[in-house]
Amino acid sequence: MLSFGLLCALCLLTLSSLSNMTYATKTTAVPPFNLSSPAGTDIWRKPPSHNVMTAPTSPSPLPLYELKSFQRARLTFALPPANQLRQYDQAGLLLHFTKPGLEEGKDKWIKTGVEFYYGKPYLSTVGCDAWADWSVVPLTPFASNESRPTATVEARRERDQLGKSLWVYQIISDEQGKEVERRPLREVNWVFADEDGWNVGIGGYVCRPTTEGGEGLLEAEFEEGVLVEVLDYETKA
Ligand SMILES: *[C@@H]1O[C@H](CO)[C@@H](O)[C@H](O)[C@H]1NC(C)=O
Ligand SMILES: *[C@@H]1O[C@H](CO)[C@@H](O)[C@H](O)[C@H]1NC(C)=O
Repeated sequence: MLSFGLLCALCLLTLSSLSNMTYATKTTAVPPFNLSSPAGTDIWRKPPSHNVMTAPTSPSPLPLYELKSFQRARLTFALPPANQLRQYDQAGLLLHFTKPGLEEGKDKWIKTGVEFYYGKPYLSTVGCDAWADWSVVPLTPFASNESRPTATVEARRERDQLGKSLWVYQIISDEQGKEVERRPLREVNWVFADEDGWNVGIGGYVCRPTTEGGEGLLEAEFEEGVLVEVLDYETKA
């Protein structure tokens, strides 16, 4: 928790390689924040023509990172108690992929977090290349309808003998905050297929698509801010 309070804490942790050069990485930490959304907001793209990105984000606008330098992003957040949530209420991590001069509607994104669906909180991940693909898995741990659904999610660049991809995980920590488990939620293969010229905007998001139930705001608490790790081109490993 401590280090997250520092604006742009710089730590040289791991090594990564880009073409034949090898660089250290640097980690920036956006301080903790609360973020709220009015009803009627969403991030969703569905044929034949629905394309919406109206969710409030923090930071806003999202800070941009060169996609080639992106290593990982992580955040922790909590929604209000489940018995106060509406269908599709959601919050989490947003990665928005853009490129200067990109044609309208050709941007891409991934959102991963918690979404309330038919009375239960789910870990929810949506990847949007051309259209949005949604997957859900029941949120655990989750105590009861009176408790606040909460999760830590991480999206990170990985490579194996077959190629490169972005993996999304739920991170489980013990009481001391030490990572004890990394649960795989999704592998997304299109993210690094074409990296040239692309940027990724990274931050927390919250939205409340359902307007039935009134104008009430949905507020999420991002109690550890946002952690982003990128290559540090100034520092050779
Ligand atoms: C977010 O809201 C909670 C509860 O309302 C409050 O305790 C906390 O201090 C707020 N955090 C920030 C960073 O404002
Ligand atoms: C939680 O609330 C949902 C919907 O309101 C209900 O279907 C479910 O039975 C409740 N679960 C518990 C454990 O009370």
